[in-house]
Amino acid sequence: MIGESVITVRNARVADAAAITAMVNRYADDGLMLPKTLMEVYEHVREFVVAVDEDNQVIGCGALRIMGIDLAEVRSLATVQEAQGRGVGSRIVEALLDEARTLGLHRIFALTYQIKFFERLGFRIVERHGFPEKVWADCKDCRKRNCCDETAMIRFL
Ligand SMILES: CC(C)(COP(=O)(O)OP(=O)(O)OC[C@H]1O[C@@H](n2cnc3c(N)ncnc32)[C@H](O)[C@@H]1OP(=O)(O)O)[C@@H](O)C(=O)NCCC(=O)NCCS
Repeated sequence: MIGESVITVRNARVADAAAITAMVNRYADDGLMLPKTLMEVYEHVREFVVAVDEDNQVIGCGALRIMGIDLAEVRSLATVQEAQGRGVGSRIVEALLDEARTLGLHRIFALTYQIKFFERLGFRIVERHGFPEKVWADCKDCRKRNCCDETAMIRFL
């Protein structure tokens, strides 16, 4: 029972990659996230933190991708459906923000539909056109690229 178990947030391991991929692609099927291949997750596994239960099952994940001298993106954020609403996603974002502070980053952004969730974590809505080109590199593969309805949000550290 996830609700009563101890949840740990830690850096991802290579062995977590399959679970991360499955979780992200489950939400990608609903159009909430961009799909990922297992190889893409392997390549970027060092960007990820995961939340695991007592049995070391991955119940949440998120990644921090550096985009410039003081800019990074929170991406691939997901919590399995049965564990949502219990603070797992918030703990993952807090862990990524801690890492961003350690790296000396000052601006952390997300492109999201989860506006209330990110507002509660100190993010504010911003005009999306202020971000550098490379932020939009993934958009070329998105089926909504010409009608993107995600909101850009930023947190200053
Ligand atoms: C967005 C997402 C990662 C949030 O994960 P989560 O683990 O449910 O996040 P939390 O539990 O920390 O917060 C969710 C809500 O539960 C509430 N909550 C947190 N801890 C709680 C607790 N102990 N008791 C009751 N409610 C709680 C929070 O207030 C929050 O409400 P809000 O969204 O209105 O701010 C998750 O909904 C998800 O995977 N969504 C699908 C994929 C997606 O959209 N990803 C985002 C891409 S940017």
